[in-house]
Amino acid sequence: MVKIAPSLLSANFAYLKEEIDEIKKADADWIHYDVMDGHFVPNISFGYSILKDVSKVTDMFLDVHLMISDPFKYVDHFIDSGASLIVFHVEAMKDEANIQALIEHIHEKNVQVGISIKPATAVDVIDKYLAMLDVVLVMSVEPGFGGQSFMESSLDKVRDLKMRRELNHYHYLIEIDGGINAQTGQLCKDAGVDVMVAGSYVFQGDNYQERIESLR
Ligand code: DX5
Ligand code: ZN
Repeated sequence: MVKIAPSLLSANFAYLKEEIDEIKKADADWIHYDVMDGHFVPNISFGYSILKDVSKVTDMFLDVHLMISDPFKYVDHFIDSGASLIVFHVEAMKDEANIQALIEHIHEKNVQVGISIKPATAVDVIDKYLAMLDVVLVMSVEPGFGGQSFMESSLDKVRDLKMRRELNHYHYLIEIDGGINAQTGQLCKDAGVDVMVAGSYVFQGDNYQERIESLR
């Protein structure tokens, strides 16, 4: 069954613990934690000190999506703050030689690793890393803001990733992020997505459980 990862970006930050408790009660699988630095993306969200506090009040799987310019520089802070999975953007890696080193570094700390690709980035760009990854995160909006419309072109990448996984016996989960609701979520499930991030769709509902159930 598809995993649902509500994005805390759309939660009420003044009531973060209550929001986390609510989504756990509503049977969410993961917490998606969007880190934005105002540089890689034109928005600022939260960093590792808030992640540390979050990790202390929940036992949920923490899926940390780094939308920051220099992931290598900050990654240890997020690992030490309780990340279960670190997803970085391939577009943020200026030196290609560092990509494999970063993957290995995170794995050495016993944390799962994912790479994310923006809508304009082809799957081929990350092909040589696929064997090492626990997650591939396909962006179905331009990263930076919640509440944008789903881009259907992302579905081709999902199907492509599924095919590459089957052909090569890779183990990564395919995650999709941006513009997910009951309708677009159905398209994603049909294409073979394993994990769906949903921000505004879950948190703007009066009943989180109903919203999450409608995505399964
Ligand atoms: C966008 C973030 C998303 C965002 C999704 O840059 O990576 O995780 O929170 O929000 P919705 O589901 O509202 O598109
Ligand atoms: Zn995200």
